[in-house]
Amino acid sequence: MKMKRSCNLLLGLCSMLALGFLYYSSDRITLQGWDYRSLYDKEGFLNKLDGKLPLELIHMYNNLSEGACRPGYAAAKMTANYPKFNKEAPMFLDPNYKQFSRIGGYSPPFGVKSQEKIIDILLSATKNYDLGEELDSLSCKTCIIIGNGGILTNKSLGQRIDQFDVVVRLNEAPVKGFEKDVGSKTTMRITYPEGAIQKTERYEAQSLFVLSAFKALDLKWLRHMVFKQRLHSADGFWKSVARQVPREPSDIRILNPYFIQEASFNLIGLPHNNGQMGRGNIPTLGAVAITMALHNCDEVAVAGFGYDMKTPNAPLHYYEKTKMSAIKESWTHNISKEKEFLLKLVKAGIIQDWTKGICGKKC
Ligand SMILES: *[C@@H]1O[C@H](CO)[C@@H](O)[C@H](O)[C@H]1NC(C)=O
Ligand SMILES: *[C@@H]1O[C@H](CO)[C@@H](O)[C@H](O)[C@H]1NC(C)=O
Ligand SMILES: *[C@@H]1O[C@H](CO)[C@@H](O)[C@H](O)[C@H]1NC(C)=O
Repeated sequence: MKMKRSCNLLLGLCSMLALGFLYYSSDRITLQGWDYRSLYDKEGFLNKLDGKLPLELIHMYNNLSEGACRPGYAAAKMTANYPKFNKEAPMFLDPNYKQFSRIGGYSPPFGVKSQEKIIDILLSATKNYDLGEELDSLSCKTCIIIGNGGILTNKSLGQRIDQFDVVVRLNEAPVKGFEKDVGSKTTMRITYPEGAIQKTERYEAQSLFVLSAFKALDLKWLRHMVFKQRLHSADGFWKSVARQVPREPSDIRILNPYFIQEASFNLIGLPHNNGQMGRGNIPTLGAVAITMALHNCDEVAVAGFGYDMKTPNAPLHYYEKTKMSAIKESWTHNISKEKEFLLKLVKAGIIQDWTKGICGKKC
């Protein structure tokens, strides 16, 4: 009798230890009958996305007034559902970027290897590496990433979008004429040469121009833009590129390439391909921007994300008539893997999806 009780006790203790062990250790562990893989998926997210916030945060958030920005919320929710998350990753490259070791060993788009010289030149010209005093002094920042999806049309979200502290827009997505649906505030526009606005009059006066460098050539292009030099050739780009960016160097930033690396290899789980760009291992700019926000914003929302392939005649983008059915199989991106990642973020409550295009009927 006594024997049996101690066995039971031991068993209980054992499984508690095992749980603790699983929780605190990394991916490779398998225990008899207790498999890490039954708790976490291949990328390291909980299979059941039911990770809870630490109690002290719950108490703190309960004390806040309804709708107030919750300090640390996105990162805490992320960590609860994806324990490998490490928040520390600055938004933009700054003169200390060489100390951020996670990007030193990879070439673009995943890092800065062999681009140090041009990056140093660019950084010494831009001289600014943050969001600006007003935003950086906030003790809690809300951010929204505006995807370019047609799903934004006729939802009249513009006013609510403008209430975010940081509004991130991507590539050439226009604001003028679409304010009712997409808002009028642009804190930053993240882009690459082929995606950048080409008509100089369409640039907003009050926003940061942020380069997400997908190849070494993109940094060379940025040098031309920063120093206002003529671009002689568009060789090496996959379509036409902006020839001028009418922004002062002090309004130009370089996005930390760590977000491309982390989105691709860790969060979405795309092929590593020896750290080189290869088939289906480049995340879309939208996924990169969301990854950036998880590290740098207290609350993260998105709008205009998600394609509904069941409505091939619906507009692909909110600003043009191209239809959903025009989407082509992409060599660089893996839209279906990426969608799984976005779905996890929404299901776990890490990000809020204001247009509900990510889940469809799944949430
Ligand atoms: C929440 O508010 C109560 C009452 O105002 C206060 O006693 C408590 O310390 C607060 N808790 C936190 C975590 O701020
Ligand atoms: C949006 O509303 C306008 C005006 O009511 C309508 O003409 C248009 O078809 C709507 N667009 C979509 C995509 O629903
Ligand atoms: C996307 O990922 C899935 C699962 O890993 C794979 O089967 C598929 O071939 C990939 N597609 C592309 C375009 O790389």
